Amino acid sequence: MTTTETPYLLGNEPDELRRLEEQAAALAPATRAILGMAGIEPGMRVLDLGTGAGDVAFELSRIVGPSGSVVGIDQSAKALRWAAGRCEAQGLRNVSFVHDDLHQMRLTGQVDAVVGRLVLLYTPDPAAVLRKFAGYVRPGGVVVSMEYEMSVAGLLPATPLSERITYWINEAFRRSGLDPYLGARLETVFADAGLAGATVLGLQAYRPPGDPTGGRMASGVLRTLLPVLTRTGLATAEEVGIDTLGQRLFEDQVRSGAVFRPPTLVGGWSRIGGS
Ligand SMILES: C[S@@+](CC[C@H](N)C(=O)[O-])C[C@H]1O[C@@H](n2cnc3c(N)ncnc32)[C@H](O)[C@@H]1O
Repeated sequence: MTTTETPYLLGNEPDELRRLEEQAAALAPATRAILGMAGIEPGMRVLDLGTGAGDVAFELSRIVGPSGSVVGIDQSAKALRWAAGRCEAQGLRNVSFVHDDLHQMRLTGQVDAVVGRLVLLYTPDPAAVLRKFAGYVRPGGVVVSMEYEMSVAGLLPATPLSERITYWINEAFRRSGLDPYLGARLETVFADAGLAGATVLGLQAYRPPGDPTGGRMASGVLRTLLPVLTRTGLATAEEVGIDTLGQRLFEDQVRSGAVFRPPTLVGGWSRIGGS
């Protein structure tokens, strides 16, 4: 266990952890579909990389059942305390948490699967992280990654406000040195990690006019990214108007009868050879 925490763009304050929970609820169907297609099964021992508020660990817990186990890893002690509290409240007994940095962590023994959702994006060398953790998976086991492809997120048809929001979010990640299209590049990341021929599929959700998800997601992530926007000259706090942004996007959506497209969740998975 380490005591120093690697700087992480979105931080782990309570507002951000609540945002992760809300985002996780929207991502749950796609996440379950990807875990199922990747071959996560009852009885497996699974690592959840960058577990955050714990939502992927909880999905995994229900799939692997009482004969399996899940270890959620995160560099943030705050996030892990939050996740552990939620885990207890849900009565999940096959989940435990480890406080460590993915770059420094060492494991003894093997697991059946390694899973990580929205975490490789925040590592400077995603292929190196994948390669390292693939090394802990037994032959025949599986490595699963889920990352966003953010370019298509927004209203359909787009409005000037939704286009501006999509641009701000994509550009804030880019200016922080992070790739908002990482999901689209997962096959290359897997290949660079020594896992050639990974299956990579994007799952696109759609929310009808009148659904509040778009406004909530946009204002939640922009609230967290606001310091990047103002520091890098992307927009001023007045231009963003964070306190009314979600409501304005929602009103746009209702007025124009638009569908909200969240970022595409792309799943990549690969079996470890030799079984
Ligand atoms: C966007 S959150 C995703 C949380 C969760 N996987 C989900 O999909 O809901 C990213 C998480 O990865 C963690 N993280 C980022 N870099 C890390 C590192 N180098 N080692 C361990 N955890 C890391 C952060 O602390 C944060 O909790």
